[in-house]
Amino acid sequence: MVIMGAYRLAMEFVVAISISSMISMQVVLLGVAGASAASAAVDLDQPPVARRPMFVLGDSTLDVGNNNYLAGANVPRANMPYYGVDVPGFPTGRWSNGYNTADFVAKYLAAGLVSSSPPAYLSLVAPTSGSGLVPPLAAAALTTGVSYASGGAGILDSTNAGNTIPLSKQVGYFNTTRSRMIAAAGSGAVADQLLAKSVFLIGIGGNDLFAFANAEQQAAPNRSAAQQQDDADAFHASLISNYSAAITDLYSMGARKFAVINVGLAGCLPVARLMDPTGACAGDRNQLAASFNDNLRSLLGNLASHLPGFTYSLADSLGLMAATFADPPAYGGFTDVASACCGGGRLRAETSCMPNSTLCADHDHLYFWDHIHPSQRAAFLRAQAFYDGPAQYTTPINFKQLANMT
Ligand SMILES: *[C@@H]1O[C@H](CO)[C@@H](O)[C@H](O)[C@H]1NC(C)=O
Ligand SMILES: *[C@@H]1O[C@H](CO)[C@@H](O)[C@H](O)[C@H]1NC(C)=O
Ligand SMILES: *[C@@H]1O[C@H](CO)[C@@H](O)[C@H](O)[C@H]1NC(C)=O
Ligand SMILES: *[C@@H]1O[C@H](CO)[C@@H](O)[C@H](O)[C@H]1NC(C)=O
Repeated sequence: MVIMGAYRLAMEFVVAISISSMISMQVVLLGVAGASAASAAVDLDQPPVARRPMFVLGDSTLDVGNNNYLAGANVPRANMPYYGVDVPGFPTGRWSNGYNTADFVAKYLAAGLVSSSPPAYLSLVAPTSGSGLVPPLAAAALTTGVSYASGGAGILDSTNAGNTIPLSKQVGYFNTTRSRMIAAAGSGAVADQLLAKSVFLIGIGGNDLFAFANAEQQAAPNRSAAQQQDDADAFHASLISNYSAAITDLYSMGARKFAVINVGLAGCLPVARLMDPTGACAGDRNQLAASFNDNLRSLLGNLASHLPGFTYSLADSLGLMAATFADPPAYGGFTDVASACCGGGRLRAETSCMPNSTLCADHDHLYFWDHIHPSQRAAFLRAQAFYDGPAQYTTPINFKQLANMT
């Protein structure tokens, strides 16, 4: 069959591409969906990558280049050395020395048929993103999926406002994507069927916590302990309310499988350890993260009990980090879980990772790549734990079980 032939050929290219060649991937995908659209149908019996697109929403832990398309001098961007120094050898917009967590989850979900995350949404709608039978956005959405993740993004629009794509806007971009899918597939039913099988990977909240904790720290001299607790309660309530709205909107547009990563040990990031003269973790920030995660767990449980067909896997980033930091050699052979590999000053965390940064000797032996983000090695271990790892790191099922649910 012509479509399958084109498809197989395209998949060989997809297997062969590295994250460095998003442009050629778009060309390849154009060919794929172009063939599909010509027959006005998407073959749901195609190999896993085609049956199971992934849509990614979140922050810099998952961003694969969206921020490189945002205008503004204050937009956080991983577009300079030494980001990407190990894979592919130059910066790709990922806050990592190579792949990030979204890449490894995508690879697992597609059983190795893809080597990286679905492409950045803004790369697919950029004026330079090519032309063809089917526009690149629809082509990607119908095959690999699309990533809306943006460095600095928060659950709240106010977090890093103007310098990122907040969660509400990421959901809006998914809405646009869905319209293009329907137009290209020629049928809402085909899009719905595909979306119901798709995994929606979401990881966000760390930036909101960071901004809130910094503001509270500034205001602390004038706030009693009780007032600070009230602030924290109000903050958690607004986060959960807006997170709930985002997930409910995605559900209303056909999303059914949610792979949600909770917030990690915010107080143990190198940038947070700097606040302590001995480099100890900031306990109050870890407590903020733990409270948020409790609320997130309740939220997902509630949504599952109210929304027919809603399924989820909640990944415990905080729990995995705690276990890793308690015994680094046993969890991936890390020798240092406190400093950044790329940066400057104390813990190599006083400056971000830049072309004039100092690098650690062995990139695979440090948990953190820069003062905030996990190294490629840590990202791989996270994805592995969440996809099919020890049961305690996912609730109530793991990503693999989520993907395979019918
Ligand atoms: C919360 O969500 C509402 C509805 O989507 C949105 O209008 C509002 O701007 C969000 N609030 C914040 C603080 O992000
Ligand atoms: C505390 O309140 C005083 C009086 O309103 C104000 O001048 C000062 O800037 C405040 N300090 C902080 C850290 O917010
Ligand atoms: C998606 O976009 C359409 C058209 O702009 C709008 O009517 C609809 O409310 C949006 N849906 C969601 C869930 O945001
Ligand atoms: C590294 O470069 C940054 C930005 O150009 C500059 O602010 C900083 O002083 C430089 N650091 C060193 C150690 O040269």
